[in-house]
Amino acid sequence: MAKRVGIITSGGDAPGMNAAVRAVARYGISLGYDMIGIKRGFKGLLDDEFQTLTLRSVSGIINTGGTVLHTGRCPETKTKTGLNRAVKTINELGLAGMIIIGGDGSLAAGNALSQKGVKVVNIPASIDNDIYGTDETIGYDTALNTAVEAIDKIRDTATSHDRIFVVEIMGREHGFLTLDVGLAAGCEYIVVPEIKPDMNKLAQELTRGKERGKTSEIIAFAEGCGSSHDFAKQVENLTGLEVRVSNLGYIQRGGRPTARTRILASKFGQAAMSLFHKGQYNRLVGLINGQITSTPVSQAIKREKKFDEKTLKLLRSLSI
Ligand code: F6P
Repeated sequence: MAKRVGIITSGGDAPGMNAAVRAVARYGISLGYDMIGIKRGFKGLLDDEFQTLTLRSVSGIINTGGTVLHTGRCPETKTKTGLNRAVKTINELGLAGMIIIGGDGSLAAGNALSQKGVKVVNIPASIDNDIYGTDETIGYDTALNTAVEAIDKIRDTATSHDRIFVVEIMGREHGFLTLDVGLAAGCEYIVVPEIKPDMNKLAQELTRGKERGKTSEIIAFAEGCGSSHDFAKQVENLTGLEVRVSNLGYIQRGGRPTARTRILASKFGQAAMSLFHKGQYNRLVGLINGQITSTPVSQAIKREKKFDEKTLKLLRSLSI
């Protein structure tokens, strides 16, 4: 009988998760495994919700956003009872192991399962791009393009009204997405949790921008920095200029994955199944300096990805 491998998508959905599911399932089947999709993230392991994936059942999904397996956040994976229940289902289903597609919460849950003897390989997928061990996560490029397109539109109205805009970007407690969005959208400033803003300096520079003839100024504001509305009020009080807020919110998580996201997801899917087949477990696949690599999960969950201050300097120097 063929060995069975489970696939989970977990945590916040990210465009390209489907492309990864397709790649894992098809490469797994070509290696001789039976592939089982667990539904609704780790919750599916607690509620026995799963489906067999076939070559055809993963057809027509490479170009779709969201996740056909559904996803969720599952606090039970942080408890002993929840974990034991998950392991029980894995054993009852006769799974040889799991491929887990998700962000940092999924990594932690995967690591906890590994410590209980489950064979796991992780694939990083999150619009936040905040995972150590990969330069890029699945979904990041798509979210980046979505946010940049939205800011291009906001720029039109900002310019027409000579306004300052604060645009709130997702990213949990990190500013990786905000930094690249800011650079690509030609934002005047970014505000990120990694660097505390000097409000007086920022206000002065915004005013100077106006004096230099700028008709709009856009600040990309990472959600991890608190309330964008409070921040905008502060800017308004300090500059006396009109400031509007736009929160891009969940549109950043949806939509058709870009070609780059699909390519990354396909490569990660193949690499993950290949690691599994070779018996290299509790590893995270990643992209480092253009190469598909893998990192022990123990390292990936302990280390913090470095914020790129050079890019921040570039953004500031080009937004004069
Ligand atoms: O991790 C992805 C993300 O979209 C973060 O940017 C955001 O902080 C969070 O998920 C929102 O989570 P939820 O889907 O639980 O509201």
